[in-house]
Amino acid sequence: MLSKMLAVCTTGKADGTTEVRSVDIPRLGDDEIRVKVEAAAANPADWKILSFIKDVAILGSDFAGVVTELGASVVEGHFKVGDRVAGYVLGGGFSEYVNACPWTMMKIPESMPFETAAQLMACGLTACQVLYHAQTLPSPESPASSPIDLLVWGGASSAGHFTVQLAQLGGMRVIATASPKHFDRLKALGADEVFDYRDPEVSKKIRAYTNGNLEHAVDCIAEGSTPQQVADSMSAEGGTVSSLLRNQSNRPEVKHIFSAGIELLGKPFTFGPFSVEGKPEMAEFSRKSSRMLERLVAEGKVLPAPIKLFSNGLAGVQEGLEYLKSGKASGEKVVVRISDTPGLKA
Ligand SMILES: NC(=O)c1ccc[n+]([C@@H]2O[C@H](COP(=O)([O-])OP(=O)(O)OC[C@H]3O[C@@H](n4cnc5c(N)ncnc54)[C@H](OP(=O)(O)O)[C@@H]3O)[C@@H](O)[C@H]2O)c1
Repeated sequence: MLSKMLAVCTTGKADGTTEVRSVDIPRLGDDEIRVKVEAAAANPADWKILSFIKDVAILGSDFAGVVTELGASVVEGHFKVGDRVAGYVLGGGFSEYVNACPWTMMKIPESMPFETAAQLMACGLTACQVLYHAQTLPSPESPASSPIDLLVWGGASSAGHFTVQLAQLGGMRVIATASPKHFDRLKALGADEVFDYRDPEVSKKIRAYTNGNLEHAVDCIAEGSTPQQVADSMSAEGGTVSSLLRNQSNRPEVKHIFSAGIELLGKPFTFGPFSVEGKPEMAEFSRKSSRMLERLVAEGKVLPAPIKLFSNGLAGVQEGLEYLKSGKASGEKVVVRISDTPGLKA
């Protein structure tokens, strides 16, 4: 029985650096599932936390791999040893083994490479959270009977990629913003119209396209000028914006609702400076959302985004995070393959 593994850890220096260390394999909680990680994807939260975390902790939130063990209270049911899965955790993904809650995991199709699947859960669940928890918009399981307009600001972001697809499957008329090079891809994913977010007239054009009636939006960027641009796209009466960062516009009639990913874990949790009480109803929300995503991915109705594979496995994570932080990632997911890690024991 292995007791040690390699993992990408924060250094405790809060200076943006990580190091690959040999660490104890974490004890498996009763309600958790252990997964041998084959590939892991990077999210902005992974590099953001590096500038202020003063603990040494395993980094990483998105992974795909194979189930190796079920915790004592996990009833053999939906998941079993040997299943190919993707999952979301807050800390732990950039490692050889990760323990995750079953409600933030999904089974992945046999034909889907782990490198492609590693991105599915963090942003797939985030898309569900902004659409069905922050707002109660029509879902693929109960689609709109008549189209409702939804603006997805930042359609080419990872969160936007899944939000556009779920909204289209929910029968909504989807309006997205992105760089022009992504217009065709977003339309193929389900956007009805796409606007260039760098166009100074973008909000005016969206207002014209929606006849001044836009009441629902998801701001997948939620910083800089975007909260105001989104608000300026909405109807004169205002509306509701699901926001991925805590931000506001200067239009009080537009309500910005922030969704924090950590809440999806649905149980008390602390990671560095972040902690939540954990609401059981959120665990149930995540479980239902994960099952829906699992079905839609299996049916080929929700597609993963293109990936950019960094070399050297866990030793390539730092470079991948710097790429993300630099803003160079455009419509792609940064991924590492664990078996590429130098010095990994077979
Ligand atoms: N609440 C949560 O828990 C949660 C969950 C996930 C993400 N987030 C946050 O949400 C943000 C996005 O995360 P992500 O992983 O989806 O990002 P990402 O994939 O790294 O985003 C990159 C994309 O952002 C787009 N973009 C950049 N500036 C834009 C702007 N002003 N308007 C429209 N699009 C713009 C670019 O589009 P083009 O290529 O078209 O130029 C690029 O493709 C991050 O701040 C992240 O921390 C929060």
